[in-house]
Amino acid sequence: MHLSTSIIASLALILPSLALPASNPGKDAVPGESPLFVNYGGKKTPLNPEYTRVIPATKHGAPQSDDLLFQNLLSAEWIIYSFYQEAVETFSTADFVKLGLPNSTYQRITELRDNEAGHVRIFQDQISDYSLKPGPCRYDFGMGNSTEIFLALQVYIEVSSMAFLTGLVREAKIDMSKSALVAIAEVETRHNVWSLIDVWNVSPFSGPADTIYPYANQILDSTNAFVLPGSCPAQNPVYPSPRQNLPQMAFSKNSTTGRPGSKIQFVFSDATNQPSFERSQKYYAVFYHGVDVISVPFNPVDNTSTIPRQFDSTSIIIAAIADQPDAPTEDSVVAGPLIMLEQPGTLTLKEPNAV
Ligand SMILES: *[C@@H]1O[C@H](CO)[C@@H](O)[C@H](O)[C@H]1NC(C)=O
Ligand SMILES: *[C@@H]1O[C@H](CO)[C@@H](O)[C@H](O)[C@H]1NC(C)=O
Ligand SMILES: *[C@@H]1O[C@H](CO)[C@@H](O)[C@H](O)[C@H]1NC(C)=O
Ligand SMILES: *[C@@H]1O[C@H](CO)[C@@H](O)[C@H](O)[C@H]1NC(C)=O
Repeated sequence: MHLSTSIIASLALILPSLALPASNPGKDAVPGESPLFVNYGGKKTPLNPEYTRVIPATKHGAPQSDDLLFQNLLSAEWIIYSFYQEAVETFSTADFVKLGLPNSTYQRITELRDNEAGHVRIFQDQISDYSLKPGPCRYDFGMGNSTEIFLALQVYIEVSSMAFLTGLVREAKIDMSKSALVAIAEVETRHNVWSLIDVWNVSPFSGPADTIYPYANQILDSTNAFVLPGSCPAQNPVYPSPRQNLPQMAFSKNSTTGRPGSKIQFVFSDATNQPSFERSQKYYAVFYHGVDVISVPFNPVDNTSTIPRQFDSTSIIIAAIADQPDAPTEDSVVAGPLIMLEQPGTLTLKEPNAV
């Protein structure tokens, strides 16, 4: 995906006519209590300024057991929240009506933004006073003024977050954290279902289970593609932590339908971070769909494999290249993961990760 740096300018675009109702509105706003995280429709962020930056630890002592998990999740959430906040500031009701979409589309997008701002606050509160709460970086989503690119990315970002939450649950130590992660995944799912119905006009259902990917930090790492290099607050921990920094994958769009049964040619999109395949080693493309995992031989000469014919064409298929069938450990993954959207089937726009 090519990201243009000009987009960042629009982050500063805050229309003064749509200011928040009060001068310091988010100050004591509590997720689950405040309408700011439900149906506040303003262009300005619902977050009080004190929550839009790094919050240092206020106590000395050992971090609590899920602090690292929520630091990772908060850094991911800053990306998702900022994506919606940029859209709310850039677009208007008329922009979506022009596409023939319901006149409620923009309002829904502001509500998604409100929910994501609530997630920021929830994750900040889940990090104990013994640990720093990471602040936002600057991001480039490459959407410019394009409502169409925004809507395509919206599906992609929601299904990605649904997928990494299935893996993050495995890292949680405290029961409350595990339940909170499921509760957040349910909300991201609602966001996805809304766009499947109202925007894409396809079935909202995705078969009996959404896709599990076991190594959440690998998906989080792929979201670094949206982060402007060097833009994160200096105090922020490495994101994600720990970070494997695996070669990122895309796929050649003209090599595949992207559907089950189709051949696919993977492309390693960062020239400075390429996999090195050993001649004596066998490699596998491991495909994840629902709770199913299917490994297919991967040809490291032309980087091709075949998407398993057995899968249904709902939701997403995730692919990773591994040096063992079914990628039994995090370290067995040598490139990826790549998230392939199956639903909606054809985005009218450039599909994220297709080159
Ligand atoms: C959306 O359209 C409906 C019916 O067509 C109308 O009643 C409603 O006022 C419109 N809402 C907005 C925000 O324009
Ligand atoms: C977006 O639209 C605004 C206002 O119409 C315009 O000034 C700006 O140049 C546009 N930016 C891009 C990237 O198209
Ligand atoms: C497919 O696209 C790649 C670039 O991504 C190009 O090098 C190649 O020639 C194309 N193949 C065909 C059959 O069009
Ligand atoms: C396959 O990927 C490897 C590793 O980056 C690269 O060296 C090779 O050129 C790729 N093959 C093709 C046909 O693109």
